[in-house]
Amino acid sequence: MRILVLGDVVGEPGRKLVEGHLPALRRELALEFVIINGENAAHGHGITERIARQWFEDFGVNVITTGNHAFDVKDIATYFQVESRLLRPANHPPGTPGQGYVKLHTPGGQEVLVINLMGRVHMPTCDDPFRCADAILARERADIVIVDMHAEATSEAQAMGWYLDGRVAAVVGTHTHVPTLDAKVLPGGTAYVTDIGMVGPYEGVIGMKKDASLSRFLKVKGERFEVAEGDLQLHGMLVVTEGRKAVSIQRILKTLP
Ligand SMILES: [Fe+2]
Ligand SMILES: [Fe+2]
Repeated sequence: MRILVLGDVVGEPGRKLVEGHLPALRRELALEFVIINGENAAHGHGITERIARQWFEDFGVNVITTGNHAFDVKDIATYFQVESRLLRPANHPPGTPGQGYVKLHTPGGQEVLVINLMGRVHMPTCDDPFRCADAILARERADIVIVDMHAEATSEAQAMGWYLDGRVAAVVGTHTHVPTLDAKVLPGGTAYVTDIGMVGPYEGVIGMKKDASLSRFLKVKGERFEVAEGDLQLHGMLVVTEGRKAVSIQRILKTLP
């Protein structure tokens, strides 16, 4: 099975990259399943129902994952409750609206389980992602399992890769917005990368305009963040599986002028 996972989509520039490249990528890469991390799709913070619906309906996206910015948009919790293909981290505390994993059937007759987890190192409070993964895998069976590990610390993402090696088809990292060069298939057959990188503007600081971001390091009270504009890059990972295991993981990089 050929699966594309796109990193955090940041603001309008990120959405333009998705709309400009995803239809052609679907054909060129013969994609059968598409996952996008959408936690920064709305002005850099959160996702709206309109954006999610457009990706599902117009672009054939199968699952949207998120992270620490899942609930940034006002009233979005209601949509999380009704749309099972829009995930928030599974290790958010009990009682959080929405779900952290979803199982879907493909037209080819395969079951794909997508799990969204969030790290705990330098991140907002959440439950243990390792034991959360164990609990989900003990409960659910699927032909292919893909994990979005939304983490700040590279060590925590790598640890999760080794922890789940052989039990899932892929552990792909999101959140830092900076791509890492370590994509590989681990010995147990799990495709792994520490961070996919973002789908958005790289002429800034993790997707935000550099002056506003710099002001936050230089002043007591910094300026309001605004989404950056230049150097648009789409970063994704093409994961190819055979049976329950991955046989390859490859970086997909596209740009827009
Ligand atoms: Fe993000
Ligand atoms: Fe994040």
